[in-house]
Amino acid sequence: METDICKHIAIIMDGNGRWAKKRGMPRSFGHKKGAENVIEITRAAKDAGVKYLTLYAFSTENWQRSKEEVDALMQLLREYLDKGFKDIMENNVRIRFIGEKKMLAPDILEKMRAIEDKSADNTALTLCVALSYGSRQEILSAVKKTAQLVAEKKVTIGEIDQALFSANLYTADIPDPDILIRTSGEQRISNYLLWQLAYTELFFTDTLWPDFDKNELLTILENFSMRERRYGKS
Ligand code: IPE
Ligand code: IPE
Ligand code: MG
Repeated sequence: METDICKHIAIIMDGNGRWAKKRGMPRSFGHKKGAENVIEITRAAKDAGVKYLTLYAFSTENWQRSKEEVDALMQLLREYLDKGFKDIMENNVRIRFIGEKKMLAPDILEKMRAIEDKSADNTALTLCVALSYGSRQEILSAVKKTAQLVAEKKVTIGEIDQALFSANLYTADIPDPDILIRTSGEQRISNYLLWQLAYTELFFTDTLWPDFDKNELLTILENFSMRERRYGKS
């Protein structure tokens, strides 16, 4: 059987709230553990030779959570951008953010820009963080950009193809994911990478995100290498 190498893993990091609840702790405690696990799993993916890791950190829908929870998540993000920085550089990781940036606070945007710039030449792994991200919004924005090109007569309607459209998504230049993992037992896509997941292999695990570890990641990679894929190989 032909084996397939995984270049790109996308993860829906779900279950932080339930992880904390099981311990009688506030949801923000689960998010803190979840953020620590981002550092662990990024390193594990890099060590396994994966080139792209796209993590769903905060969805456009997540803005509807309580102010208390949103504030706690934004504070954690600030800390991650400050403290995670050293780890990103030491591990030769390039970081990118995808999502609706205009919703985020100016100081956070500034930190995001700085870390994107400083890590731009790192080559071991590209860590793509989906933040304030919604796939339908991303697709609509690509439709608008493409329509603009037509309005400006830079392309004709007939010239619009998958490559042109993909180039107008936030994920331009990033190959489609080979693997999608969702933790915590939920089996939905939750507005994540709808276009990009067309031929991705799906893995659902009951493990809550703070408990998801390197061993489980390696088991999934091994399982993936035994699946036969007809399309979507990068
Ligand atoms: C995922 O964990 C993290 C974010 C969505 C920010 P949840 O916060 O969704 O945790 P559960 O699903 O309530 O357990
Ligand atoms: C999806 O998880 C978003 C992230 C993991 C950031 P949610 O927990 O927000 O998704 P739903 O609401 O259960 O679909
Ligand atoms: Mg959830």
